Amino acid sequence: MGSRIQVFMVVISIQILVIAAQQPNQDYAALKALMSGMKNTPPSWVSFDPCGDNWEGITCTDSRVTSITLASMNLTGQLSGDLQNLSELQTLDLSYNKGLTGSIPPIGNLKNLSNLILIGCSFSGPIPDTIGSLTQLVFLSLNSNSFTGSIPPSIGNLSKLYWLDLADNKLTGTIPVSNGATPGLDMLVHTKHFHFGINQLSGEIPSQLFSSNMTLIHLLLENNNLTGEIPATLGLVQSLEVVRLDRNSLNGSVPSNLNNLSHVSELYLSNNKLTGPVPNLTGMNSLNYVDMSNNTFDISDVPPWFSTIQSLTTLMMEQTQLQGELPIALFSLPQLQTVILRKNKINGTLDIGSPYSNQLQVDLQDNLIDAFRQRTGYNIELILVNNPICKETTATTEPYCTITQSNSTYSTPENNCLPVKCSSDQISSPNCKCAYPYMGTLFFRSPSFSNLRNTSIYEILHNALLESFQSSLLPVDSVSLRNPTTNLNDYLELRLEVFPSGQDRFNRTAILEIAFVLSNQTFKPPPEFEPFYFIADPSYDFAGEASSATNSHTGIIIGAAAGASVLVLLLLLAGFYAFHQKKRAERANKQNNPFASWDPNKNSGSIPQLKGARCFSFEELKKCTNNFSDANSVGSGGYGKVYRGTLATGQLVAIKRAQQGSMQGGLEFKTEIELLSRVHHKNVVSLVGFCFEQCEQMLVYEFIPNGSLTDSLSGKSGIRLDWVRRLRAALGAARGLQYLHVHADPPIIHRDIKSNNILLDERLNAKVADFGLSKLMGDPEKSHVSTQVKGTMGYLDPEYYMTQQLTEKTDVYSFGVLLLELITGRGPIEKGKYIVREVKRAMDKTKDLYNLHEILDPAIGLATSLKGLEKFVDLAMSCVAESGTDRPTMSEVVKEIENIMQLAGLNPNAESASTSVSYESTSKGFEHPYSNENLFAYSGGFVPPKLEPQ
Ligand SMILES: *[C@@H]1O[C@H](CO)[C@@H](O)[C@H](O)[C@H]1NC(C)=O
Ligand SMILES: *[C@@H]1O[C@H](CO)[C@@H](O)[C@H](O)[C@H]1NC(C)=O
Ligand SMILES: *[C@@H]1O[C@H](CO)[C@@H](O)[C@H](O)[C@H]1NC(C)=O
Repeated sequence: MGSRIQVFMVVISIQILVIAAQQPNQDYAALKALMSGMKNTPPSWVSFDPCGDNWEGITCTDSRVTSITLASMNLTGQLSGDLQNLSELQTLDLSYNKGLTGSIPPIGNLKNLSNLILIGCSFSGPIPDTIGSLTQLVFLSLNSNSFTGSIPPSIGNLSKLYWLDLADNKLTGTIPVSNGATPGLDMLVHTKHFHFGINQLSGEIPSQLFSSNMTLIHLLLENNNLTGEIPATLGLVQSLEVVRLDRNSLNGSVPSNLNNLSHVSELYLSNNKLTGPVPNLTGMNSLNYVDMSNNTFDISDVPPWFSTIQSLTTLMMEQTQLQGELPIALFSLPQLQTVILRKNKINGTLDIGSPYSNQLQVDLQDNLIDAFRQRTGYNIELILVNNPICKETTATTEPYCTITQSNSTYSTPENNCLPVKCSSDQISSPNCKCAYPYMGTLFFRSPSFSNLRNTSIYEILHNALLESFQSSLLPVDSVSLRNPTTNLNDYLELRLEVFPSGQDRFNRTAILEIAFVLSNQTFKPPPEFEPFYFIADPSYDFAGEASSATNSHTGIIIGAAAGASVLVLLLLLAGFYAFHQKKRAERANKQNNPFASWDPNKNSGSIPQLKGARCFSFEELKKCTNNFSDANSVGSGGYGKVYRGTLATGQLVAIKRAQQGSMQGGLEFKTEIELLSRVHHKNVVSLVGFCFEQCEQMLVYEFIPNGSLTDSLSGKSGIRLDWVRRLRAALGAARGLQYLHVHADPPIIHRDIKSNNILLDERLNAKVADFGLSKLMGDPEKSHVSTQVKGTMGYLDPEYYMTQQLTEKTDVYSFGVLLLELITGRGPIEKGKYIVREVKRAMDKTKDLYNLHEILDPAIGLATSLKGLEKFVDLAMSCVAESGTDRPTMSEVVKEIENIMQLAGLNPNAESASTSVSYESTSKGFEHPYSNENLFAYSGGFVPPKLEPQ
């Protein structure tokens, strides 16, 4: 009896201990409230002690929460006002959680907050004025959200502020400066960074903003609505290194003391309304990058500083009324990479002497140069199109009389290994291992270089990144950089992939630490790349992680184990677990083989629901492709091969056959064929059938003989597309897309409209192909679907990219890019130049053909009538409008192309001319469009999970 009491006492005391350990931490309630406003907080947030129990993303000092870093956690929801109670908080980083919305709650109580970092979320509303009470603030990064209202003057009170980034929001109003009663940004004499670009700030730049006390190094005001003159006080801020005032409406003359700024290395004054003399930059001996294009300076001779600033890499003064000869000394500046002086009155003989640099690019289009002194042995890329020299018949064949296009494609090379073929969304790392990288885009707001083809510059950046991660002891195996491009704001963009070491994916802790290295500017790029910001791709997949619900059981189990009923409970749990596992296994099995209960030969069961498409046997397809002979192969890619075949009925088909290891799960396959079989329109490639047996997955399409639009535009297919044919192709593609948006049931968003996915049949009718990335618009109530951003670089709708909200207008944007491709014959991004911007730049609506002669594809037939071209350009431009709501619907696009055709005297409803007269030589041997890798990637791909052999 006595021993029984003892046991009882022990049990009681253990229970008391357990309860004592679970006394809530002081900050628990505030975090709990924070959690209730947000979804997807880490599963480790379950106990009562955020400080003792290793809550991911939480750091404590003396049992108080001092830091919350939850960047890239896929958080959604809103920030709760209870945040205020975390009075010891020093760092709050919620960056790259696109699902965080709403406004910032009052935060004035956070007297210890030094880093507030909310980059790339979806916060809106005004920046609260109480932010001025956070007197310890050092880093304030609110960039790339949707904040509205004006910059709170109270920010002027943040005397410790080092970094102020408000860029890429919707801020309006003027830049606040102090006046007796109210504070202003002029008081921030210790702040090094004013990053205010891409907003709608207006009014004059206050001259009071600047003083000689300031220690500002980066002044970024680009792409706002600022007016008035550049204040002369700017010349007092001797510490400045980067000045971007471009893309505003500044007028008047540039203050003559600007050249006091001897530390400035990047100076952008372009795209304003500046007048007066061309600025005298003599003495600015640190200058690397100068862009003063598109201003109306007084007519001026080439200024002397052109040939004296030894550090110059880049000189851009397009359309600035320069005249006279270019000095030979300019080209022997030791670091020079790019000279763009289009649309000036530069005349005489061009002599580039013996340039230092081996990769010099010189663009002097639209000038008055009548002679060129050729020197051999130098590799410069020169453009003299539209100069008198290119109008002489002897010179017109010179390479400098055509616009050449060289690519600046780069990606980090493999590290002495062969890249491996990876399944699904895994990617082969530079060390040739398949893994799920953490991905995003690095934006460099003012690189000091312009030669995007010099790969050593990326290598320097690559090494710096890798070192930064590894010195922070993060589990990073390797880093890959790719696709350098210059975007519409002249930022250099680079794709970044960070690969995990040891495993094939990062865990949560690793992700939030890597993200923090980038969001908090812990990573300091090489000086050529400063300043930068990073935007992570949404939704890193932490698959396989225990959910918070199962985790929270551990606490209960420990408590219960101490109690008497432990066995019963454990048994119950074990039973539940086993049942759960069994269900899961059943579900998994079903997903792998949805045809398990379906015999194609008996046509029993309800799946799949096919309209018109038929199920082929392996034998049938084997026969019609001559045993999948090489002679019948018309293309191949990572997924497998495409064969041409002739069915017993005589119909020509293209058969895509997935190879082992690149098949998709049965359920996806079924969904895919159901979707494809529902689509019937003469401007959409249709599915004839499929095969799903013997570990084979094949799709059978109608055969489209004349390849893709890309093949024709590039000359590969031998089909010359004149203006009339291009109009017809545009109309066909538009009708196909209109069908998908409006008439398909349910409507389909294509998501990957590009010239490679528009095929031409024997009558040159355009057909839309590849629903590889398509999304169904299931719920008619919803006007968009949120998805992981997919698509092809160059065609990707920037709004979709930023918001992840997919609507039909995303296709309209890509279609607009396609229209520009149709008239220019250029890919969307060539030589790091974005076609949308290039056309905008070249466009002058007051001139004939909008002044686009140089940019038009010569094969369009420049000598012939291009009736309607201007309207076509207008249409393309409206399709690529920044905001989806400003873009037309596909039905409106179809109507407008029909109008344009009528204007050009064509009947939009007539069939194209017949084959026999349509073709110049149809060259054989070009790769068939079906070989396009994306094309096969139907709905996320003919890619694993692998089918288990039965
Ligand atoms: C440009 O500035 C330099 C240095 O301030 C001065 O010596 C030179 O005369 C100026 N040149 C012109 C054309 O005003
Ligand atoms: C170049 O233009 C300048 C200014 O218009 C003029 O004085 C000069 O004679 C021209 N030189 C040549 C070689 O045409
Ligand atoms: C490429 O960049 C590196 C590093 O900035 C530089 O040293 C080298 O001279 C550049 N090469 C060329 C051809 O411009």
